[in-house]
Amino acid sequence: MKKILALLIAVVMIFAFAGCGKDDNSLTVTEGKLTMATNAEFPPYEYYEGDKVIGIDAEVAALIAEKLGLELEIVDVAFDSIIPGVQQGKYDMGMAGMTVTNDRKEKVNFSDNYAKGVQVVIVKEDSAIKTVDDVAGKKVGVQQGTTGDIYASDTVENGGYGEENVTKYENGALAVEGLKNSKVDCVIIDNEPAKAYVAANPGLKILDTEYANEDYAICFAKENTELQKKVNDALKELIADGSLQRVVDKYISAK
Ligand code: ARG
Repeated sequence: MKKILALLIAVVMIFAFAGCGKDDNSLTVTEGKLTMATNAEFPPYEYYEGDKVIGIDAEVAALIAEKLGLELEIVDVAFDSIIPGVQQGKYDMGMAGMTVTNDRKEKVNFSDNYAKGVQVVIVKEDSAIKTVDDVAGKKVGVQQGTTGDIYASDTVENGGYGEENVTKYENGALAVEGLKNSKVDCVIIDNEPAKAYVAANPGLKILDTEYANEDYAICFAKENTELQKKVNDALKELIADGSLQRVVDKYISAK
């Protein structure tokens, strides 16, 4: 009798677990919603227009959500809390012009790449910094937790400028403020936001030299390979039918 009961419980549990896997509820944090974490101080990928977050990431995410039959919800957080939040299951995904790096890959899974970025150096027009070689020993501003921060904060032996020379700002806009107020001599940041900041702030320019080439992708919790796969399928379609490029062209004028 006991054996039969044990078997019955086992069978019930197997069905319960199998049910979980198939249940659509388990695909996202909130049923029916695709919760995306971003840091919306990063034009043209994500930034505010009034109280709405717009930009390439916001629009591509909306197209992905539509394909998945989910409603997109964008949550604006500090850049360096996106990955921890995704790991803890607070958000379904992080999409923030986020560069794929080996360190990050240990913490989260990435989608296929959907864009490219280049780290560049912004200086004042009359700056003594003429090329990246002149950055050594100068005060560098970065956005906390970004690849620009990681490269710049590395030791001089490793090709960085040394932690003591780097000021970490909460976001790119504040780093650019720091440059304008001469708190730092330059800002290292991704090229497209750099262009947007320079366009909005007269007296600044971008050095010609490219600092580092990077790929952008969407991140997911390691366990959520089902969502990762669905998003990748959606991304493939959006690339194949030109929708992704249309969004990019809307925000980045081809030069
Ligand atoms: N591409 C850089 C990185 O991944 C900067 C991204 C910053 N994104 C943002 N939405 N603030 O580290």
